[in-house]
Amino acid sequence: LEILLKGLRRLEYRGYDSAGESDGKSPCHQHALACSSGLFPSLSPHCLPDNDIDLDVEFDVHLGIAHTRWATHGVPSPVNSHPHRSDKSNEFIVIHNGIITNYKDLRKFLESKGYEFESETDTETIAKLVKYMYDNRESDDISFTTLVEQVIQQLEGAFALVFKSVHYPGEAVGTRRGSPLLIGVRSDHKLSTDHIPVLYRSCKFKLKNDTCLFPVDEKAVEYYFASDASAVIEHTNRVIFLEDDDVAAVMDGRLSIHRIKRRAGDYPARAIQTLQMELQQIMKGNYSSFMQKEIFEQPESVVNTMRGRVNFDNNTVTLGGLKDHIKEIQRCRRLILIACGTSYHAGVATRQVLEELTELPVMVELASDFLDRNTPVFRDDVCFFISQSGETADSLMALRYCKERGALTVGVTNTVGSSISRETDCGVHINAGPEIGVASTKAYTSQFVALIMFALLMCDDRISMQPRRREIIQGLRVLPDLIKEVLSLDDEIQKLATELYQQKSVLIMGRGYHYATCLEGALKIKEITYMHSEGILAGELKHGPLALVDKLMPVIMIIMRDHTYTKCQNALQQVVARQGRPIVICDKDDYETIKNSSRTIKVPHCVDCLQGILSVIPLQLLSFHLAVLRGYDVSNVTSGSEGTDNPVFC
Ligand code: BG6
Repeated sequence: LEILLKGLRRLEYRGYDSAGESDGKSPCHQHALACSSGLFPSLSPHCLPDNDIDLDVEFDVHLGIAHTRWATHGVPSPVNSHPHRSDKSNEFIVIHNGIITNYKDLRKFLESKGYEFESETDTETIAKLVKYMYDNRESDDISFTTLVEQVIQQLEGAFALVFKSVHYPGEAVGTRRGSPLLIGVRSDHKLSTDHIPVLYRSCKFKLKNDTCLFPVDEKAVEYYFASDASAVIEHTNRVIFLEDDDVAAVMDGRLSIHRIKRRAGDYPARAIQTLQMELQQIMKGNYSSFMQKEIFEQPESVVNTMRGRVNFDNNTVTLGGLKDHIKEIQRCRRLILIACGTSYHAGVATRQVLEELTELPVMVELASDFLDRNTPVFRDDVCFFISQSGETADSLMALRYCKERGALTVGVTNTVGSSISRETDCGVHINAGPEIGVASTKAYTSQFVALIMFALLMCDDRISMQPRRREIIQGLRVLPDLIKEVLSLDDEIQKLATELYQQKSVLIMGRGYHYATCLEGALKIKEITYMHSEGILAGELKHGPLALVDKLMPVIMIIMRDHTYTKCQNALQQVVARQGRPIVICDKDDYETIKNSSRTIKVPHCVDCLQGILSVIPLQLLSFHLAVLRGYDVSNVTSGSEGTDNPVFC
């Protein structure tokens, strides 16, 4: 149990809101550990339920599983914690990292067959499904790996899974698709091989000595299945990284790897690799801080926001959390987006496309100001509360204010079970994964995508909107690759930071879809570099801000090829006329701007209303590099996130 708990503690940096373990007793026994909702509940033994776990008891078992959960389906609670079980006698239990997108259909099917569910999770479907496969097995000598192979053929979405079962005592089976899974191998003795051949079900195989990994002379060996190396590195640095759809089984101290069929180009073996990394390095990967890691996670986090919701083949959007209220929302008179900080900027960034696709008036409000003004709110308003944490006090108070006035309330949060997601009538979880860096980055781009998905849903039956909807949906399809392309500018942006880091101030100017990028870029710079920075609407330049521009003032301008292009060119001329030498973030194919500017950051082109996702990333990177060069610990800034306004609860 101590090994399991320690492993979980090593994964704490990934963020979690609840945890659970199953020791090796037969029948398996499930404990929910530290299930209080909130980030980082302590996983120290003193927080274990006293009457549940006795750390002094010894079991004659060799297999235990444990899991930290970041809620996606169902609030953090003991019953939603993993492991999940097939039935009350724990015939099969499973832990899962990822999201099963077809779990509702599977659950309906299994319920129709009499399986009773106890949690709200997608994962429990997997536990029931493996029992269903076992109950309906064709032959009595079916292996555990075959059962798991049958199960994963029915799953859609992303998963890393580890199973155990009373029917297969001492056996563990792990598999993955889309979520990482590795196997640590620890033995003081020589191992039978340094790579394991993959066994394909299509060719009838029998486990033989040369298809398994084990220590020669039957000496002791330990295997650790884990989402990443940080959980196992203190026991071993020898690991095998599984590939999508690999099914790995440990039986009688032997590890074998199976696949249903061979794909073209598959390497038919998995090597044991020796990691040279330190624990700290593994937790943050090659990144120096969580902020940097999260910036670079954005190609995946936007995919996770869209997973199972956007169908790129038939151009449809499904948001399960809004299903029961969408008709009512479509009938409303006004949309009000209420938030603080970066989340407010996500509202500013998507307001125009919301207005375009819903044809409704859209107000974007800072929660504190909205409350200060006693803003009139009516029963036919729909109020959105955008919040990474789901706990920001002003946003929460504004939510209660709107509820009292009878408006329909919608949450857009990254934290399942948070106050905002609990208290709103319905909502969208952005599924960006835990955001540990104080400066919000990937949550912003995922909020952006979530609000765009909502706008698309609102007009899905409007014939006149279909060409525009298709254009945006196909833009979302290519977005992850375009984000990767922007991230490849990192070295160039780092160089720019070396030229700017000793300055006192940076002005960021733009308009239209990119006004939000200016505000967000300036907020990031203020928040983590302690430099003054201001986001300026380029249309307001001549009404005051131009007075700040001279040959010494650093200016960043955002000019993209949309309907504001000519006006932005005018703004550029005004800045140049004041001897300003702006750095221009522009479309990589905009030769006109590139020719007329002394310095450009060239980003790929995408649909106008998504371009703000690409224009903000250079500024996220810039603020990060500026902070590092100015000697600040990016993980330890003292922004509002640590104040009482945005409580981290435990
Ligand atoms: C502030 C943070 O305290 O809260 C910002 O410094 C954040 O980065 C803002 O955007 C709002 O937080 P949330 O969790 O409501 O999105």
